[in-house]
Amino acid sequence: MINIRVLTIFPNIFESFLAYGNPARAIQMGLASVQPVDLRQFGDEPRRSTDDYPYGGGIGMIMKPEPIVRGIRSLEAYDVVTHKILLTPQGRKLKQEIVEELSHKSELLLICGRYEGIDERVRYFVNDEISVGDYVLSGGETAAMVLIDCIIRLVPGVLGSDSRIDGESFYNGLLEYPQYTRPRDFEDCQVPSVLLEGHHEKIRRWKRKMSLVKTMRNRPDLMKSITVDEEMEELLNEIESERLI
Ligand SMILES: C[S@@+](CC[C@H](N)C(=O)[O-])C[C@H]1O[C@@H](n2cnc3c(N)ncnc32)[C@H](O)[C@@H]1O
Repeated sequence: MINIRVLTIFPNIFESFLAYGNPARAIQMGLASVQPVDLRQFGDEPRRSTDDYPYGGGIGMIMKPEPIVRGIRSLEAYDVVTHKILLTPQGRKLKQEIVEELSHKSELLLICGRYEGIDERVRYFVNDEISVGDYVLSGGETAAMVLIDCIIRLVPGVLGSDSRIDGESFYNGLLEYPQYTRPRDFEDCQVPSVLLEGHHEKIRRWKRKMSLVKTMRNRPDLMKSITVDEEMEELLNEIESERLI
């Protein structure tokens, strides 16, 4: 069971996201709870404001530290450690290993920025800073949805018995092999014949080889971190001699 709270000025953004697919399923099954919380309730009176002008000039508004820290203090769990994550393009870049690490926590608090960002001092009140990629979003809510989605699908029991994660992209450091469904022939593009022959060992080997080909083509940077075993060595030689790359 994982409890995720999200501190945001736009809690309603999460409504339809939480009503579909794995997040909805996890919540219905009691395997996860996700609670978006309106940051404005911790805002400064009289107008519950959450932002102010930047010191030193500059464009736009900055989110004030006091409402966020009041929110953090009010939402932190009493009995277990709450892992508090600031969503920011300046954080450590999200990847599957980090998702796995976070999926083992029981209490997460995600803090979403808006405008030109968050007062730097908020950093002292969190445990972690995460970026969903090297680009700038308008707000932390979409980043929070990315994080919630990929964490929730790793919570045991959330994915149905017909789904498995061990062959998925990044699980073994590689991208997943190409997938096909009916029809066999689509606009003169055929499903590879090995997948139609029902020879399980040949299919397993083909999937591993194609996983390597896909990774070498699309994400050669990932190849640097993989451990090459004997079969992989053979497959790499085949890939080279068949000029698949
Ligand atoms: C417009 S951005 C502010 C960007 C900030 N001025 C900067 O250059 O670092 C507003 C908010 O969106 C969220 N955000 C934007 N890009 C993100 C990313 N790549 N990953 C996670 N959160 C992001 C953060 O919460 C951020 O405070």
